[in-house]
Amino acid sequence: MTPSGPVSDISAPISDAAQALALLRFYLDAGADAAIEETPISRFGLAGTRTEPAGPKAPAPVRVPAPIRATEPSAPKAAAPRANVTQAAAILGANDRALAESARAAAASARSLDELKEILGRFEGIESLRARATNMVFADGNPESRVMLVGEAPGADEDRLGKPFVGVSGQLLDRMLGSIGLDRTSFYITNICFWRPPGNRKPTEAELVAQAPFVQRHVELVNPKVLVLVGASSAHALLGTNDGITRLRGRWFEYKSAGLPAPIPALPIFHPAFLLRQPGQKRETWADLLKLKARLAELG
Ligand code: URA
Repeated sequence: MTPSGPVSDISAPISDAAQALALLRFYLDAGADAAIEETPISRFGLAGTRTEPAGPKAPAPVRVPAPIRATEPSAPKAAAPRANVTQAAAILGANDRALAESARAAAASARSLDELKEILGRFEGIESLRARATNMVFADGNPESRVMLVGEAPGADEDRLGKPFVGVSGQLLDRMLGSIGLDRTSFYITNICFWRPPGNRKPTEAELVAQAPFVQRHVELVNPKVLVLVGASSAHALLGTNDGITRLRGRWFEYKSAGLPAPIPALPIFHPAFLLRQPGQKRETWADLLKLKARLAELG
């Protein structure tokens, strides 16, 4: 609580320390515990205020090169290409680049999903996430299935249980996929971020870049027939586009990677957390899921 309303003539000058203390005591007794004014005062411009020496400016936003992974033969070009997570390594600082390089070498050495999980679990470089998380959230479902879903980042429930998409939005996703006959025995699911970011903040670009080689290797090792990119961050990271999810969803892209025998068709969809907030958009997602179902039928 803060002082409010006239409790005495507070505009009158306080002549001595005893008076000042009495007034302060009164405020404390009344429950006031912070000294603030109704309008903020900028102290920076006040005479006599010590100013910080001008430090280095925040780095200017870096323009990023065109995507190399996403190809979209028949769709319109992305207006403002954004780096996919691998390309973004090029715009990070030297430390982050070195981290991305060692992540690449570590991930590339994995010959199986178990090895990848084990190497990722030991990889020291994503401490900003790992140190605060309860569990690493690697994957769930059937790695032999034709469909691999890639979401964004674990939340509190996933962190507690060590499995992706087990909270409220995961339950909605399960229901959505159930509507086209898929369940966790017939799809495999992971995220672009393997630990819950503290306070559910968004993972930083550096954190995503460090994890990207593991995501890439994950897809290579599973080599599904179809990828479903759940939410904007996942679509951006894997397709290297900056387009909004409203523009991306429901369109087929190709995910390419050097370790894959052939590109994989990739379908971005709305994130279920978004659908929980905007249930009116479930209609679009239903249409997208029908596209997925048709594609799977074509693939036989
Ligand atoms: N949202 C995600 O993107 N991934 C999860 O695992 C859970 C919620």
